[in-house]
Amino acid sequence: MTDNDVNDAFPGITRPDSLPDDERDRALRPRKLVDFQGQEQIKTNLAVFIQAARERGESLDHVFLIGPPGLGKTTLAQITANELGVDFKVTSAPALDKPKDLAGILATVTERTVFFIDEIHRLKPAIEEMLYIAMEDYELDWIIGQGPSARTVRIPLPPFTLIGATTRAGMVSSPLVSRFGIVQRFAFYSDDELTDIILRSAGILGAEIDGSAARALAHCSRGTPRVANRLLRRMRDFAQVFGNGLITESVVSDGLEKLEIDCLGLERYDREILRSIIQNYGGGPVGAETLAISVGEAQDTLEDYYEPYLIQAGLLQRTPRGRMATEQAYSHLNLQRTNRGKDDTDANQRLPF
Ligand SMILES: Nc1ncnc2c1ncn2[C@@H]1O[C@H](COP(=O)(O)OP(=O)(O)O)[C@@H](O)[C@H]1O
Ligand SMILES: [Mg+2]
Repeated sequence: MTDNDVNDAFPGITRPDSLPDDERDRALRPRKLVDFQGQEQIKTNLAVFIQAARERGESLDHVFLIGPPGLGKTTLAQITANELGVDFKVTSAPALDKPKDLAGILATVTERTVFFIDEIHRLKPAIEEMLYIAMEDYELDWIIGQGPSARTVRIPLPPFTLIGATTRAGMVSSPLVSRFGIVQRFAFYSDDELTDIILRSAGILGAEIDGSAARALAHCSRGTPRVANRLLRRMRDFAQVFGNGLITESVVSDGLEKLEIDCLGLERYDREILRSIIQNYGGGPVGAETLAISVGEAQDTLEDYYEPYLIQAGLLQRTPRGRMATEQAYSHLNLQRTNRGKDDTDANQRLPF
């Protein structure tokens, strides 16, 4: 397989972090907690904490949101600010290059502001240190002057709420994690929840869709609302160009075939990953780094985006010795097991994440 094989045609149609039409997602983004579908436990808890903070007139405790891309972390952070009726500021860890970048934002924070930092596992150490103090003491350490005359001043900050989001809880340092009072983990969405999301989005987009078509689409959206919305827009295109505008079950099945998305919601790239494990590494185990190189993908993307869903779908296992394809992966791809890897008992020793 070459890079071109993978990247031509419809590159990463289901990949939640790669396409430019996220801007258009704005209209679809729920603004109130009641419009946020699924994740019942997170919603119920958060609603209580928000109400309590509001009633006391205090800032909400810092919130840590964990989950794969496209499940609604950014959306929920924004909703939290809306529900609290406070300012919302957004940045992401890679955008914070120097301590002064963080200081610059903190200096503009007003009382009870929700300050959202995406990809918080990628903070630089010096910035993380500064954040500790800001989160814990609501103070900003700032160095004035240079050389021997330099001195540190502590600038008080108004009480604010930090919401940190990550796709990789394991890469966040424990001192940082311990400063969050509220920690919530996102789960993949059920078909029912995604069906509701698709119907709601169709309503906003003015797209006509059959109930059965919405359900079929939900089933292929890899448990991810961002993917569901994106596929909905593509199906609307197919229905408009090839049909009478109504998205039916047959528009969906033809459309998914054109996009090379299969009945489990896997796209070509997912299948390449599984095929590579099976055909190049006898079904595994194979280390993530090696696997990433062999499919020509960044290891981060492999681990953050592709693997969680493949694991959830029961096609991939993470074992202490590396990644392994499961029986289901063989049957899904219609491939036979060879001898190597056949009686590997490590497949049962799954890591606890
Ligand atoms: N629970 C939800 N209900 C309805 N739509 C959702 C939900 N979660 C996410 N979405 C949709 O999916 C898109 C991606 O969500 P986002 O919050 O950006 O995900 P993340 O930050 O976790 O990558 C949003 O723009 C929104 O339209
Ligand atoms: Mg996000």
